[in-house]
Parts: sequence; C-alpha cells; structure tokens
Amino acid sequence: MLAGTVADRLAVGAGIRGITVREALCQADQHIGDVDARMLMQQVLDASHAYLIVHSDQVLTAEQAQKFRQLIERRVAGEPIAYITGKREFYGMDFVVSPSVLIPRPETELLVDLALERIPSNRTVRILDLGTGSGAIAIAIAKCRPLALVTAVDISPGAAAIARANMRQHDVDNLSIVEGDWFGGVAGEIFDLIVANPPYVARADPHLSQGDLRFEPPIALSGGEDGLDCLRQIIAAAPAHLAESGSLLVEHGYDQAEICRELLDIADYDAVFTCPDLAGIMRVSGGFCPGSIVRQ
Ligand SMILES: C[S@@+](CC[C@H](N)C(=O)[O-])C[C@H]1O[C@@H](n2cnc3c(N)ncnc32)[C@H](O)[C@@H]1O
Repeated sequence: MLAGTVADRLAVGAGIRGITVREALCQADQHIGDVDARMLMQQVLDASHAYLIVHSDQVLTAEQAQKFRQLIERRVAGEPIAYITGKREFYGMDFVVSPSVLIPRPETELLVDLALERIPSNRTVRILDLGTGSGAIAIAIAKCRPLALVTAVDISPGAAAIARANMRQHDVDNLSIVEGDWFGGVAGEIFDLIVANPPYVARADPHLSQGDLRFEPPIALSGGEDGLDCLRQIIAAAPAHLAESGSLLVEHGYDQAEICRELLDIADYDAVFTCPDLAGIMRVSGGFCPGSIVRQ
C-alpha cells in the first residue's frame, strides 16, 4: 500500500483537477524509478515513449490515473515489470510473457548469437530448443534463419501456449512447438544443433526468494540440489539426438562453466568450450557430437 504517497496523490489529483502525464510520472519515479514509471504509463495509455514526451501535459482521466496507481502498487509489491506489462524485448523482438514463463534475460542472447554462428543461412538444418519457455530463443533463431527447421520443447503446457502465441505474433512458420519432457518430446529425431537454457538454480540459492525470481515459475528455475540436474540430463542424452557433425550449446549459471565442461568431457563431446556473456560471466558451454571431429 502506498499510503499518503503517490497512490493518494494520483487519486486526489484525478478527483480535483486531474493530474498530467508529467506529474504522474514524477510522483511514480520516486517509488519505482523513471524507467518502470514510463513503461507503466505507456501500458496505461497504450502509447509509445515518444507520445509521453510530446503529450506530457495531457491530463489523465480518473480511470487512467486509477489504473496507473494500481500498476504502481503491483510494481512496489515486487511484481516483475514484464509480468505487469505482459511483454519483454529479446533479440530486438517483443515477446508476450506471463507468470507461466521465465522472463527472457539479456544474457541469453549470447546463446542465440552462438547458435546463429553455427547455422548456415543458405540451407536447411534441424535445430532443437529444449525448455523453450516463451519461445524467445527458438523464435529468434527461426526468424534469423528462415531455412532452418526449428523444434521447441517444453514440459509446461502454459509455457507451450505462450510460445505458440509468440510464434503467431512473429509470423514464424519454420517452428514447431512440442509439449514434452526434454527429449521425450522428440523421440527418435536427429538435429544438427541443440540449444538449451534449462533451469539451473540450486535448491538453496537465496536468489530464489529475491527480486523477479519470486514470481517466476519454479519449474523454469530450479535445477535440483546443486542446480545441475537438467544440465546433466541434457548433456548425457543429447548425443543420441545429434547428427554426426552436430553440436550442443547450453546456458548455465555463473559458477557452473567448469562442471559443465567436465560433464561434456565425460560424455566425450569434441572441442568443448565455454563463452562469456557481455558482462564477462562464463555463460554458455558446448561441444560437438562425440566422435564428430574424428569423422570429419
Ligand atoms: C530457464 S527456463 C528457459 C526459458 C526460455 N528458453 C528462455 O531462455 O527464456 C527453462 C524452461 O525449461 C522448461 N522445463 C523444465 N523442465 C523441463 C523438462 N523436464 N522438459 C522440458 N522442459 C522443461 C521450463 O518449463 C522452462 O520453460
């Protein structure tokens, strides 16, 4: 509750003389910061950032002021801005998100960059995205490589529904979305590249009870006792689904690069590597299908 603060003033302002966009943003800024305030105002007015600048003297209707107040209260209570607005940008595209899916993270764009480096633009290759969530990775790849045939798997029906909504929104026709338990959803199928951003947070990680993570689906976050359950399963099972020269790329936690490389080595992947994200954190590891370098 924002007692005596922005909530009251927004309500009072709307009742007496009305409150302008600029005044409302100024008041909200003190509680949630200017970027979040602006995004919530854009949501209320269904308007662009430029519109807010040009129309900063526009007086909000009582209904708009009340809606803005309610959104601010949700944000003050900690709800992620992406769930409040229902969208998040990833790889230059807007994605629908809901509490059924992980909010796509900027660092995951590295996984897409590395995938695109490995996908030729002039021929058809088969790509698998495991744990697709909102479909952000699979859709970014499918849009950037129209000849690729992309399959995206998620165990959560809610996530699969959001991924399908995003697929429609981005008019993607080279992607199929499958509900299933990792490779159970694609039994017997072979891929040239498998990518995954699986749940990798350890059970006791204090971050699970902080910030946005409190609102995100546990099935998208929790990787078991040490956070590595899903990474272990995927690294062990992927070779049976990789073409001869195929490769696997997995995103992992800031402190999991070494263990992931060990797991890849144990499973006999070739040319095992780790790549840092823009913040310099070792974020994605991968390797070629076991035996592929000998075969080349
Ligand atoms: C960390 S989220 C990644 C979501 C999305 N790929 C992204 O990067 O924003 C992990 C996803 O894996 C899915 N998942 C968890 N366990 C799974 C399983 N056994 N089989 C398939 N998907 C699973 C979750 O539902 C969740 O959508």
